[in-house]
Amino acid sequence: MQKSILIIGACGQIGTELTMALREKYGNQSVIASDIREGSTVLMQSGPFELMDATDYNAIEDVVMHYEIEEVYLMAAMLSATGEKFPMRAWNLNMNSLFNVLNLAKEKKVDKIFWPSSIAVFGPNTPREHTPQQTLMDPTTVYGISKQSGERWCAYYHAKYGVDVRSVRYPGLISWKTLPGGGTTDYAVEIYHSALEEKRYTCFLEKSTKLPMMFMDDAIRATITIMDADPKTIKVRSSYNLNAMSFGPEEIADSIKAHIPEFEMTYQPDFRQQIADSWPSSIDDSQANADWGWVPEFDLDTTTKVMLENLNKA
Ligand code: SER
Repeated sequence: MQKSILIIGACGQIGTELTMALREKYGNQSVIASDIREGSTVLMQSGPFELMDATDYNAIEDVVMHYEIEEVYLMAAMLSATGEKFPMRAWNLNMNSLFNVLNLAKEKKVDKIFWPSSIAVFGPNTPREHTPQQTLMDPTTVYGISKQSGERWCAYYHAKYGVDVRSVRYPGLISWKTLPGGGTTDYAVEIYHSALEEKRYTCFLEKSTKLPMMFMDDAIRATITIMDADPKTIKVRSSYNLNAMSFGPEEIADSIKAHIPEFEMTYQPDFRQQIADSWPSSIDDSQANADWGWVPEFDLDTTTKVMLENLNKA
């Protein structure tokens, strides 16, 4: 089936792989990548690209009309750690970009939206283990507050205006193709690069800080699956809990040592420790499983194997 898709924030950690996966599925010319900066060679050369600011409604509208876009994936955002340094910039980018695409859908200029939420919507009083879909949410970061507000606006635009917006709460994402930037879970990517290059890593979180994590292939599959699902099956119009694995720095270090025995880990927690301490350590995603069949495939050991193999080749 042919359809015209716009990815906003296509050059980031998720956007890069999502764009390539959607180009593979729908054809290169059907998937328009856009970002405020240019991305990897493979992304730039494989299909259309537009330089675009996600906070500029008119710029997005122009691209949507020009390419007759049906679906928008809004991946542009400022993550938790950077958001604490630039609170107003994070709020401006994370909220205004969402309003721009919600309003385009309200005006029937696009049919369907994907917008990611995060485990950052939870806070210190949320049950930490097997965090339920519906629970107390008291986010303490600017990023988390923007994602929680965004979830309420998604549910509101769906209920009031019939906007078909779909969302998942991504855990920390681990990938080898593109580096993350500005997140609290970034250590779980940096560690693989450091292990291969220097055989050592200094972690900015304490050894026992267990957080929900996911390998990028699972995250891309979840994203495409929820977007392909029959709208009747999407019962949650805020955002779905999504689970794959949970581990702390000490466990990821052990999984790396199984391949690189001389690997050494030291710990120097910084301001990101407090952010991590406010988030769940594991997630109950039974509703995503019941509604649209979500089942993760990658655990920590398979993730480590694939990360080390691919980074070694790169
Ligand atoms: N990976 C994100 C962060 O650490 C959470 O969604 O900010």
